[in-house]
Amino acid sequence: MGALHAEWLSEIPESRFVAVCDVKKDLVKQFESKYKVKGYTDFSELLDNKDVEAVFIVVPHYLHPKMAIEAAKAGKHVAVEKPLCRNLNEAEEMINAVRKAGVSDLYMENLCFAPSYKLAKDIVDAGGLGDLFLCKARESGDLVFGSAGEKAAVEGAAVDSWYFDYEKTGGGALMSSGCHAVQYVRHVYDNAPAQRVYAEIVDHVGMPKRGIEDAALVTIRFKGDKIGEIDSSFYATGGYEDKAEIFGNRGTIYLDMYKRNPITVHSHVGYGGLAHSVFLPALGADKGWSFPIPEERFQLGYYHEQRHFLQSVLKGSRPIVNFEDGKATLEIILAAYESHKSGKVVTLPLT
Ligand SMILES: NC(=O)c1ccc[n+]([C@@H]2O[C@H](COP(=O)([O-])OP(=O)(O)OC[C@H]3O[C@@H](n4cnc5c(N)ncnc54)[C@H](O)[C@@H]3O)[C@@H](O)[C@H]2O)c1
Repeated sequence: MGALHAEWLSEIPESRFVAVCDVKKDLVKQFESKYKVKGYTDFSELLDNKDVEAVFIVVPHYLHPKMAIEAAKAGKHVAVEKPLCRNLNEAEEMINAVRKAGVSDLYMENLCFAPSYKLAKDIVDAGGLGDLFLCKARESGDLVFGSAGEKAAVEGAAVDSWYFDYEKTGGGALMSSGCHAVQYVRHVYDNAPAQRVYAEIVDHVGMPKRGIEDAALVTIRFKGDKIGEIDSSFYATGGYEDKAEIFGNRGTIYLDMYKRNPITVHSHVGYGGLAHSVFLPALGADKGWSFPIPEERFQLGYYHEQRHFLQSVLKGSRPIVNFEDGKATLEIILAAYESHKSGKVVTLPLT
């Protein structure tokens, strides 16, 4: 994901891409030569660079709090990839750090900036759907039996990945992918507080049991008589899915990021990264039927998200999706885990 952020940062008018950090020396060298930026293998040293005014933190989840807090203390504006962190204490510490330092904070949630998802929100705000009562959202990955993704997860390079380690991620499909759906539903409802959460979670659909959920269905009651439904799993059998449905008493919107494209392809041999696809070729999903997304990184909102952050920094305003949203989204996910364990509805706020 860092490679994508780097590519887009180098094109945003408000941005001057100056430095990169990764613990992998070879990777740093590649970035240095591609973008003519200064490379570091130690994050603290990058923070000493006076030319660095804002940082994008795109590392495994367990590193988000430490690095975000260190960046804020160094006076840098800070954007953090989803999920914000693994628990509410970490979230609180991160919020306090940016507040104390007076720096701008972006919780990176690309769906809120994706053109089709943003248009849906604009239509809602214009009253096009009347009063909302239900918003459903799904984000699911593709570790389907027999897919390249499944092979990597079960027996390939991904076996030892931090992505499947509870200690490093804080959860499974719901934490890593479903967080997008939770944040989008909150966004549609203008961040109305969640009051009740009920979840059904399955820990073992296909992969060897890993202590992280494979699939989750979560029902949320929001203040103002609004219902949210989140559906997330590792098993989108037809390839990666991002969908949402918004219902009001005067109208309905259906969103589908990955399948309602102007181009549908069937290929026995695949076509690599031609569609600028972030996820599909890596999972072998450019073979058989596929749904490439033209200008995917624009359509998925990454560019707009980064640009919004830098514009907020320049204007001195807080990003529309910030650490408070990251915390609220995380609270819903943690309540879902609690509901799964107890089999009961969980009332928010969590104590
Ligand atoms: N918004 C999205 O659509 C989306 C998609 C994928 C991943 N993500 C998020 O992006 C983040 C990174 O995920 P990824 O898939 O790119 O992971 P990854 O494992 O592919 O990359 C993480 C990188 O961080 C580096 N790293 C580890 N420890 C470091 C340290 N102490 N200092 C500097 N670099 C360090 C690793 O060497 C690696 O290159 C996660 O929060 C993930 O959830 C978001």
